Amino acid sequence: MKQNEWSSRLTFILAATGAAVGLGNIWKFPYMAGDHGGSAFVLLYVICVLLIGIPAMIAEILLGKIGRKNPIDTLSDLAKETGQSPHWRWIGWLGALSLLMVLAFYSVISGWSIAYIGYAASGMFQNSSIDVVYNQWFKLMATPSLLVKLHTIFMALTLWVVARGVKDGLEWASKWMMPLLFLTVSLLMVYGVWQGDFKAAWNFLFHFDISRINGEVVLAAMGHAFFTLAIGAGAMLVYGAYLPKSIPVFQTITAIALLDVLIAFMAGLAIFPLVFANHLAPEAGPGLMFKVLPIALMNMPFGRLIGTLFFFLLLFASWTSSISMAEPLVLILIERLKLSRKKASWIVGFFAWTLGLSAVFSFNIWSDVQLFGRYGIFQILTDVPTNILLPLGGLGFTVFTLWVLPKKLTQTALGAPSYLERPWRFITKYITPIGILVVLVSGLL
Ligand code: PFF
Repeated sequence: MKQNEWSSRLTFILAATGAAVGLGNIWKFPYMAGDHGGSAFVLLYVICVLLIGIPAMIAEILLGKIGRKNPIDTLSDLAKETGQSPHWRWIGWLGALSLLMVLAFYSVISGWSIAYIGYAASGMFQNSSIDVVYNQWFKLMATPSLLVKLHTIFMALTLWVVARGVKDGLEWASKWMMPLLFLTVSLLMVYGVWQGDFKAAWNFLFHFDISRINGEVVLAAMGHAFFTLAIGAGAMLVYGAYLPKSIPVFQTITAIALLDVLIAFMAGLAIFPLVFANHLAPEAGPGLMFKVLPIALMNMPFGRLIGTLFFFLLLFASWTSSISMAEPLVLILIERLKLSRKKASWIVGFFAWTLGLSAVFSFNIWSDVQLFGRYGIFQILTDVPTNILLPLGGLGFTVFTLWVLPKKLTQTALGAPSYLERPWRFITKYITPIGILVVLVSGLL
């Protein structure tokens, strides 16, 4: 079992940060904020991260650290050991479904970053105009064959690493790519703040306006907290399962989660000042970042270099996240069907790729298709797992860890001083599950 273990605390931190930091921070957070009225969404998202996300993240990682298997078997084994119903394992299956759906659309969006590496490197944005930038975006969306190719490349990259085992290569690469990503996002933020309409952006993101809150915004904010922290589906559970028993988790996880929020804010402050300075609409949907950042690159000194670097790093950030989605699925096939890692990776890749095609076509040939009378395919593929399945999974993991597992077991695995453990236990046992339920019910009714 030792080969399925992180080699040090640092490698765990890198992998978990890699899973958390991704498109969710840089691509999704700004457009979600844009679509959901800005500051109301931002405030609710922060509250959800603090009261629901971080406690649930710790619970999920603990569960993995104790169970040491894929999510389904972890739940069914621990349920058996503690004399509970084997049906707990369905939470693991639910997580697997979420992972498959998220991986499918994630790969499509990550494919866009690959295209934009090329566009930025070619210098096409230099001294161009907003029209050029927008046209390029619409042209890409209208070319399904190219989108499918990019989606295929990204899916292959993901499963290639997973097939090799995560240890070689990825851990090493995250070590220098993550800091570089942080640096480039900082640079873009400084540029946005300096050249754009900072005041309008600040007001939009942080000037709290209670009238914009409704059930839908609360649900979107909570869903995003789960998505960005990579919890509720079993990805963090599996990363916890690879954690050597001696490594404590409490402070490490909290730090990772806060860093994750910080990067989202930085991305927001890179993008929105430019949105307002150029009189663009913040509600641009999934295309927001790809339409706005090139505008920054148009006039920026070294824009071509910075742009290329940025999209390259974004690709890398999504790569480390997509690996965390595929790994649990592959582990399920390895442990339950006794498949080789390679074969399991092929199968996972194939199913996620096929599902991803529907995301590709939702931007062009199927753009008119509406399910249940009002939801586009892309929206279903992103919103159902994010807003419903991840919170439900997170609820299941949290309740299982705090209510079902014996206290002694979680206490040892947590390894935190009691002044930290006690409030965490209280919040995670009562506030987190009730919070998830209340938001789910109020958002869905
Ligand atoms: N946290 C990732 C991001 O913000 O891009 C996305 C993600 C990873 C979601 C892993 C779910 C997951 F299980």
